[in-house]
Amino acid sequence: MDPVLLITVLSVVLGALIALFFFNSYFGKRRSEVQSIAKAELQPDHKKPSKPSQPISKKSHAKPHTHAADKDQNKRHHPLDVNTLKGHGDSVTGLCFSSDGRNLATACADGVVRVFKLDDALSKSFKFLRINLPPGGPPTAVTFTDDASSIVVATHNLSGSSLYMYGEEKTTSVNENKQQAKLPLPEIKWEHHKIHDKRAILTLYGATASYGSGDGCTIIASCSEGTDIIIWHGKTGNILGHVDSNQLKNHMAAISPNGRFLAAAAFTADVKVSIAAVAINAYDHIHLMGYFLIIYESPYEVWEIVYSKDGSVKEVSKAMQLKGHKSAVTWLCFAPNSEQIITASKDDSIRIWNINVRYHLDEDPKTLKVFPIPLRDSSGATMHYDRLSLSPDGRILAATHRSTLQWLSVETGKVLDMADKAHEGDITSVAWAPKTIPMGNGQGLILATSSGDKKVKLWTAPSLD
Ligand SMILES: *[C@@H]1O[C@H](CO)[C@@H](O)[C@H](O)[C@H]1NC(C)=O
Repeated sequence: MDPVLLITVLSVVLGALIALFFFNSYFGKRRSEVQSIAKAELQPDHKKPSKPSQPISKKSHAKPHTHAADKDQNKRHHPLDVNTLKGHGDSVTGLCFSSDGRNLATACADGVVRVFKLDDALSKSFKFLRINLPPGGPPTAVTFTDDASSIVVATHNLSGSSLYMYGEEKTTSVNENKQQAKLPLPEIKWEHHKIHDKRAILTLYGATASYGSGDGCTIIASCSEGTDIIIWHGKTGNILGHVDSNQLKNHMAAISPNGRFLAAAAFTADVKVSIAAVAINAYDHIHLMGYFLIIYESPYEVWEIVYSKDGSVKEVSKAMQLKGHKSAVTWLCFAPNSEQIITASKDDSIRIWNINVRYHLDEDPKTLKVFPIPLRDSSGATMHYDRLSLSPDGRILAATHRSTLQWLSVETGKVLDMADKAHEGDITSVAWAPKTIPMGNGQGLILATSSGDKKVKLWTAPSLD
């Protein structure tokens, strides 16, 4: 054998072994998979493994819905569609219920935040309070803070994002008990500009700091389209903490209802690393050793918001990781008891996690359930959820993909009902009222959806049997 060729072959084999050993141990902790070791060119878009690793029980297989097939059956009114909130002059970009469910704030691209009074979900018309935002970018998200008259709004323009907190104007009226004919006018209590650099705020989530020594005030997470998340004190606008999701791009961030945990859904969990290993032989010839395509899963961090004895936030620290999804998590929500997280992923599955674990002892959150996403396009490919919201009783998961809305049973993963075209545009926000609200002669569990079609719709809950 030609000695040059022999050295070449040897260096190729040896280099490959060394590189393999190195990367195996280096990425071992990150659950790496050496996807391919090949001298051939890199496939620009290497397919990720498509089989979910967790066994999926037969029982949980809901009938796949075909997007195209259902289109013809579009009724003008879906049986669960109980009302439409009109009056928006442009796309509705976000919405939020007050803690009693009786006020619904909407952010609209026409530069107005409207607060609808939901005295009866079946009402023919709704009174609403109109907050005209200062010029400088349309609102992208809205949330209530400590009470139903305090609202935090995020706006965005070319120079960056702003946050405004509106609270009730101090009444100078001598007679406090006097019935007010008009709704109280809100005024700006605090504002911040150029936050999150120039990035837009995608979501605002508020929660009451009721865990441990939390002081019962509302804390708010603003999630930027980058990787940063800021936690704010609702009443004062003080920054309580910063975290970085360490992913490529955030989708959203939520705080558990008790104010204890913060979790974010982000793009992307599949980080593709390609390395061209080279070895220089004794003749200074450079040999291309081969490419290593390493796909590792970047686990989702859950942070704990730690309160000091005086009720203020001491720190926001990494608590645990959600390990298991094979691809990016598109959205997540906490259960009402703050002990579970539901995630929807691009790996075609929904997972329910128990986060009530001894993470101080390095115990990882356990997957309680895995369901396949029961939403297919006409070719049979799974469509991924853009948004999720869990009913206040924790039993019904509302999930949306573009203009499609599904209600799933959290127990079985089965589709309880579906509105194929819930709106004429993409759904931009979905939320359950935290409490039942009056509905005609009774009380009902109400879901609200907003859309680019300038509408907000109210939906009653499907039956669970
Ligand atoms: C963006 O908004 C800020 C704050 O509302 C305002 O001061 C600024 O002039 C706006 N910039 C542009 C380019 O519209």
